[in-house]
Amino acid sequence: MGNLLKKRLCGLDNEILSIVREVAREAEGCRCRAYLVGGFVRDLVLKRKNLDLDFVFEGNAIRVAEKFSAAHDAVLTVHKRFKTATVVLPCGLRADFATARKESYPYPGSLPVVEDGPIRDDLYRRDFTINAMAVAINRKNFGELVDYFSGYRDLTSKKIRVMHDKSFIDDPTRILRAVRFEQRFNFEIEGHTLRLLKEALESNVEGNVKPPRYFVEFKKLLQEPKPIKGVNRLAGLRGLAFIDRNFKVGKPVFDILQKAEININSFQRRFKQRQSDSWLVYWMVLIAALPSSRIPSLLQSFHFKREDVKKILLSKNSAGIIRDLSLKGITPSRIYETLKPLSYENMILLSSITSQKIVRRHIKDFLLQYESVKIEISGSDLKEMGMASGRSMGSVLGKILKAKLDGKVRSVREESCLAKKLAALTKG
Ligand code: CTP
Repeated sequence: MGNLLKKRLCGLDNEILSIVREVAREAEGCRCRAYLVGGFVRDLVLKRKNLDLDFVFEGNAIRVAEKFSAAHDAVLTVHKRFKTATVVLPCGLRADFATARKESYPYPGSLPVVEDGPIRDDLYRRDFTINAMAVAINRKNFGELVDYFSGYRDLTSKKIRVMHDKSFIDDPTRILRAVRFEQRFNFEIEGHTLRLLKEALESNVEGNVKPPRYFVEFKKLLQEPKPIKGVNRLAGLRGLAFIDRNFKVGKPVFDILQKAEININSFQRRFKQRQSDSWLVYWMVLIAALPSSRIPSLLQSFHFKREDVKKILLSKNSAGIIRDLSLKGITPSRIYETLKPLSYENMILLSSITSQKIVRRHIKDFLLQYESVKIEISGSDLKEMGMASGRSMGSVLGKILKAKLDGKVRSVREESCLAKKLAALTKG
């Protein structure tokens, strides 16, 4: 095993490997034992790329981080209270440095109280055995797997297993993490862990965590490449009650989620330059059935960003927008006016919920043609024609754009003619 992981470490990208070796060198200078831990080790065994470097030291992590960042021109952020530090290298890579610690939870769902401890304690406080392994990186034991809790066995037998029976009570966000890892790796939550998870949900332990913290973990589930399986699994476990007490998702919602997945993928493939958050589309699908009056307080309780709230509130009018877009003989400028205020997430959602081909077609036309249409004439041209800047100038420019979208003006000269006519009207 030692050899296997040593080989895997040596097979990492040169950039990563040299960071690992340098961190180990600084740790040795500080007389510390140094380890890579958590998801990085899990993914090293699974041969999955992971750029989240999590280092743990038996000794003062902050001193090691200070020395390392000084030698590498990196940006250092220190969290003295937690004895941790984050280092961002000039290349953009990020590494977390933590002093090995023992944790206790004063009450269920609280943030943990920490004190220094050996690596074994640091690994014991973690969520699942597969995330509770370390790899030693000091020169004398470089690549040695530290696996007190049979994480390697569980990883190879594809099992998600908690470290102890109070795990979900201590930290209910682990309910969502269990489902996320199970679905991501195609593993199975092993029997005893599944019983504990169900018991935790039955006693509503998630209510012990502040809603924004719980939602962060749910958002990660929605950010997985294939999140529907996870949502389905969670729904089967009645794990969606944190959204609303009687929250249920039935087949029609799953059908729309499937369509959303297809549309998200094709949007992201086709429009690489346009930014869209896939998790937000899934979220909008999920909460579509909730009454509009419930949405603002729900989003507020999860601390949604204002721009996301705006998109979600717009999505509540999807049926009206679909109705507008399906009007016979709708002009390109009307399509433009209808879709322009919407986000890409809203458009993907519309394409996923409508059964009308023509609506999907209009959205596609907007994205491929209308959205990028620009008029040649500008405000300063209008000024030269004697117009004062202000609202009426904006309205004239809008009308010219509308005419261009509808093919009524096709050249700068035609735009200019129309501008003169409109300018004269505003003066008159
Ligand atoms: N961890 C934990 N309990 C949590 C969150 C994290 O025990 N509620 C521990 C796990 O050991 C985990 C590590 O902290 O491996 C890092 O957490 P995070 O970055 O959230 O998870 P990863 O396992 O790295 O997962 P991902 O691949 O999704 O980033």
